[in-house]
Amino acid sequence: MNDTALFPLSDEHKMILNAARDFAQSEIAPIAAEYDESGNFPSETIKKMGEMGFMGISTPEEYGGAGMDTLAYVLALEEISKVDASHGTIMSVNNSLFNHGIVKFGTEEQKRKFVTPVATGEKVGAYSLTEPMSGSDSATMSTTAVRDGDDFIINGRKSWVTGGPVADYVVVYVVTDPSKGTKGISAFIVDANQSGFVRGKKEPKMGIRASATSEIVFEDYRCPAENMLGKEGEGFKIAMTVLDVGRIGIGAQALGIAEASYEAAINYAREREAFGKKIGQFQGVSFKLADMKTRLEAARLLVYNAAMAKDRAEKTGGRFTVAASTAKLFASETAMFCAHASLQIHGGIGYSKEYPVERYFRDAKITEIYEGTSEIQRLVISRMELGLR
Ligand code: CAA
Repeated sequence: MNDTALFPLSDEHKMILNAARDFAQSEIAPIAAEYDESGNFPSETIKKMGEMGFMGISTPEEYGGAGMDTLAYVLALEEISKVDASHGTIMSVNNSLFNHGIVKFGTEEQKRKFVTPVATGEKVGAYSLTEPMSGSDSATMSTTAVRDGDDFIINGRKSWVTGGPVADYVVVYVVTDPSKGTKGISAFIVDANQSGFVRGKKEPKMGIRASATSEIVFEDYRCPAENMLGKEGEGFKIAMTVLDVGRIGIGAQALGIAEASYEAAINYAREREAFGKKIGQFQGVSFKLADMKTRLEAARLLVYNAAMAKDRAEKTGGRFTVAASTAKLFASETAMFCAHASLQIHGGIGYSKEYPVERYFRDAKITEIYEGTSEIQRLVISRMELGLR
């Protein structure tokens, strides 16, 4: 149930929620297990999601999006992720880390050229910050871009790029001046189908397997200076600002996984019998269900609050970092809690690949890791609260 007393949904919100729920049930549910097994990128359903408007929900209409608010985005993302977190990841990266970043910091030409085809699902976008030796401490990246006339020459290795094996355009963060620390990092929008862009090792992942992830190697990649996103040296701030939005998306994804886990557990506890009773009648099971439900509803409030805080901040020019990080932190730990409890309630059947619960368990784990680990969220929240940032 997505409607809450604090966040009553408008007709428009209900419409997008129902459209996402119907799409997820009819188009994604039948293929989720197969794509999880193969690890292939679900290009066809992603294209259809673009046609439905899901790849640019809060992207302005003039750039191919649906022009809705961030609550609409998280409602739809929650429904998609409830059925398959891999589709949720792809939707989240394209909407927030790619489209939002370019809409917020890009030139008019960049918005038309790169955002429109991604928002409509014709192309796939990606975001590339991490490197093999630079994860949580993202300022230590070593990929460089060196000016050469009207171009920049990019060299280096990026890792853990969601959609890396198939992406058409990637926003990549690189060092343009190593003497300036975070102020020597710049962002570029690169075309992945040009020479010098090498798709590297595909990661053999535990979960969200269909959201194909890979390394990207830049070998003397020539990028026109006009593809710089923002100004030279602004890249780190852009990366962090965009991650604030991305983290709300991961919160919504985690909420979807938590809900799927919880509903599976409730249904199973109503049906399964042991020692002459339905297992839901044993306190050992029913109290687990109560704890899942409580955390789930609390996570929902945080995620919806973060969505609305973002929209408010966009109007006033303020930040919504704490709202985003608290939502991501609590929702991801709730997803893990619910997936773990659900699998335990299911027992042996939960451990079988014939049921989706083990997939929820594998998928939940990444939400505590990517777009900033739980430890990084705690660092971000506490620094902000202490007035250190
Ligand atoms: N909004 C705006 N500006 C911000 C900001 C934010 N949220 N966070 C930091 N900044 C600014 C700071 O104000 C500071 O600016 P000034 O120098 O002008 O004061 C500048 O950025 C540097 O900030 P910090 O000093 O705080 O930087 P730091 O080196 O201490 O690092 C960090 C901060 C929070 C640890 C950051 O490195 C971080 O978030 N790490 C995690 C990275 C991450 O989430 N990676 C995931 C990548 S995406 C992914 O998972 C794959 C995928 O495809 C989905």
